[in-house]
Amino acid sequence: MGIVRSFRNRFFSGATGALMLVWGCGATISGSQAPAPNAVPMAEQVFKNVQILRGIPVDQFMGTMGFLSASLGLNCTDCHVDESGSNWDRYADDNDLKRTSRRMMAMVQMINKASFGGQPVVTCNTCHRGFRKPNVMPSLNQLYGSPGPDEPGDPFVAAAVGPVKDSPEALLDRHVAAVGGTQRLAALTGISAKGTYIAFDDAERSPVELWTTANGRRTVLAHVPAGDSYWTYDGTDGWIAGPPTDRPMPIIAVTGQELEGLATEIDVFFPTRLKQRLRNLRVGIPAVLEDDTEVNLVQGQTAGGTVVTLCFDAETGLLRRLVRYAQSPVGRLVTRVDYTEYKEVAGGVRVPSKWTTAWLSGRTHYELTEIVANAPIDGARFTKPTLK
Ligand code: HEC
Ligand code: HEC
Repeated sequence: MGIVRSFRNRFFSGATGALMLVWGCGATISGSQAPAPNAVPMAEQVFKNVQILRGIPVDQFMGTMGFLSASLGLNCTDCHVDESGSNWDRYADDNDLKRTSRRMMAMVQMINKASFGGQPVVTCNTCHRGFRKPNVMPSLNQLYGSPGPDEPGDPFVAAAVGPVKDSPEALLDRHVAAVGGTQRLAALTGISAKGTYIAFDDAERSPVELWTTANGRRTVLAHVPAGDSYWTYDGTDGWIAGPPTDRPMPIIAVTGQELEGLATEIDVFFPTRLKQRLRNLRVGIPAVLEDDTEVNLVQGQTAGGTVVTLCFDAETGLLRRLVRYAQSPVGRLVTRVDYTEYKEVAGGVRVPSKWTTAWLSGRTHYELTEIVANAPIDGARFTKPTLK
């Protein structure tokens, strides 16, 4: 159990799979992908018993597993044989729940094809809502209680066009001003930082290091007890890497919409980049976060179609939350980053110093304690990780 629990929470630090889907090609559900410069292996090339989720890269396959787990409220090993907890090979073994899940995937595909023009409108979560057995009866508790809020921006409701100060561009500009302004940001070339990292069910914090540069590269290196874990983006390609207990392959490429979502997260350290990254910007109806912060919502899309929602504190103008979605064969995969603290660095720029990243199979909390601006950073920090 220990391995799987740590896996669940450390698998992708904010990186679950993601591409546009192509529905209705025979018995398989496959993803399509912009041509990748480096060939990324497909799930069926890496795993032994993939019958339905074929033609998608490994990161998207694992993101799909997160979607199934979250929709049914199950741990990885609940749907896989017990032995899979300590042996990645045993995930290939079939059991009743796995077989039923395959049937359900085919059923969902049929429902969407027959009734929703092939759009992924119905997902596992539509019926299961976090439970292994869906409720056939409406719940009286829910009827007369007050259910918690859903993710803002899902689906995004665009507000009527308002005064210019509330345009999406103005809200982005307000954030830029709140962290120091365009001029100071232009002088920021990079950040090197040290701090701590803790995953959802880790017993204690682990040391973490972070390097990021103004041209959008970043590496996060966590020294977790099982070994070092990397999340690297070199400006074009991205990888996650870590000890074999934590993931089925030591190094997994981050692909498609997930990769562009990751790049957008990195832009948050150099937020003048956000306006270039995101297009079709629109403003949503203001919302209130769980901690009662009032926020203004802006949503946009990256070139590859990753939908990103930004929630700006209505009072300070600072970015408080970033929500991003990426496609998978079973439904949209959500990643949410909550920025709870910014710290001023040399040059008068404020950068995120505390944030929590949550996705469908894990949640991690970061806290940077030493943040150095504009120190030289070796370019080798951003190359594909190699594990010792
Ligand atoms: C609701 C059931 C369910 C849950 C929960 C689930 N899986 Fe799966 N898993 C499946 C099914 C079904 C397949 C086979 C998919 C196919 O045939 O296309 C599979 C296949 C796999 C494979 C490929 C194994 C091989 O070699 O063929 C791996 C690895 C895997 N799952 C890992 C995980 C991990 C890790 C988690 C937790 C994040 C997880 N699964 C949660 C149902 C589930
Ligand atoms: C249209 C509604 C609906 C959708 C959509 C749906 N399910 Fe189900 N699922 C059910 C119902 C109803 C049952 C319970 C049947 C029963 O009580 O035996 C069930 C049962 C299951 C079970 C068996 C649970 C058990 O304890 O035996 C699994 C596993 C499962 N679903 C997986 C999935 C997965 C994975 C998806 C998405 C690909 C999905 N379901 C989508 C309605 C749905």
